Amino acid sequence: MLTLAAVQAELLTKTTGSQAIAADRAEVLNSGLAANLEMPHPVFIDRGEGPYVYDADENRYIDTSVGFGLHMLGHVHPVVTRAIQARVPKGWMFGIHSTSQLQLANLVQAGSPCAERVVFCNTGSEATMYAFRAARGYSGKDKIALFDGFYHGAHDYGMWMADPTSPRMEPSAVPMGHGIPGVLKELTLLLPYRDSRAFELIRQNKDELALVFVEGVQSSNPQSEAGEFLRELESVCRSAGVLFGVDEVITGFRLAYGGAQERFSLQPDLATYGKVIGGGLPVGAITGRAEVMAVFTGLAAERGVFSGGTFSGNPLTMEAGAAVLNHLRDHPEIYVELERRTQRLADVINAHCEDLQLPVHMKHVGSMFHLFFQRETIASSRDIHARGLAAQKAFYLHCLNAGVLVPGTQRAFLSAVHDDQVVDELINVFTASLDAVSAEGLFDATR
Ligand SMILES: Cc1ncc(COP(=O)(O)O)c(C=O)c1O
Repeated sequence: MLTLAAVQAELLTKTTGSQAIAADRAEVLNSGLAANLEMPHPVFIDRGEGPYVYDADENRYIDTSVGFGLHMLGHVHPVVTRAIQARVPKGWMFGIHSTSQLQLANLVQAGSPCAERVVFCNTGSEATMYAFRAARGYSGKDKIALFDGFYHGAHDYGMWMADPTSPRMEPSAVPMGHGIPGVLKELTLLLPYRDSRAFELIRQNKDELALVFVEGVQSSNPQSEAGEFLRELESVCRSAGVLFGVDEVITGFRLAYGGAQERFSLQPDLATYGKVIGGGLPVGAITGRAEVMAVFTGLAAERGVFSGGTFSGNPLTMEAGAAVLNHLRDHPEIYVELERRTQRLADVINAHCEDLQLPVHMKHVGSMFHLFFQRETIASSRDIHARGLAAQKAFYLHCLNAGVLVPGTQRAFLSAVHDDQVVDELINVFTASLDAVSAEGLFDATR
């Protein structure tokens, strides 16, 4: 069994190409690396193939990030490759409307339970920004209610988090980093996640609230028990006369073909999409009830809001996305298999941790999973503690060295091509890595 020091040494010797890129990159690129695996230095991916990625040194890893959750069919799936190749000779970017948009719009409309209309943009962040604008335009109110532990993208209206020192039942918002105008805090109402106190706060603030917006499943805390809370939330919003929006950027076409809305029987006024619906190319979409979505029909429309963008609805993305959604629609067994495999992965890992009394458990919903380095159950992200950090970092290094890549965000996924054999490999690497971390006494701080 390797020690952590031995793992670090091995990783250093087999990733010299990535180290050179990391050094050169610092002279040119200032973008953050937090989303990559940072220790002992990031690995730079050169290519992907099915469930695997290969780094700059040709090391192969089982990829549990799959493009931060977007590759439902794994890397370089032939249906997507064919769609992209068929579009390229005809031109891939016109700015003005192209013949490729309607097919994807029809697929999203048919697959999204609340979607009477669809508007395309380029990222999930853009989609949530437009959803907020649409809700404000439609309602004439300005405040947006968001939940402790949320992530809705990088725009200023979403860059808020709960002050960890504020009361759990009435969290106050602090900006995520500098550069977020303090005045925007007034436009954000932060609510406790999965707690009925949220319903009281919505009722109290209904006259100011344009929208209550919630992830289909919080990616920081993926668990199937969220459904009951979401259904009640929807009915509280209905009776309070506040728009209800579901962020399906991760969950859309992943938790089920109809996303969290199908899985949990939800019927929101607005839903946002990204990731899966672009087939691996940049995409975002806002969908919803026709009456609310009518604000997008132009500035001349009653309560019309601006939307637009050079790359919005570009034909290459539209073709790649349509290829994936067509394939998923025609192969419903993919969701059944993904559910079964992820359940098996979680069952085996959780039984292993239980047997050895390790302070670790795996949460999952559909094909999203997350390892928590603590024994205590997690209702909201407030329950996640940092005591397991050293063990967690060591664990992910062991995994990387053994050929399994989990992104720095620790949000992990299976794709349709992570078959039973790949899941067996994942189980072997995860259990061996947990055992190695335990053997070195790194769980002692969390016991
Ligand atoms: C729920 C949710 N909303 C919005 C976003 C932002 O999407 P993008 O990274 O495409 O801007 C993400 C990204 O992970 C997300 O998970």
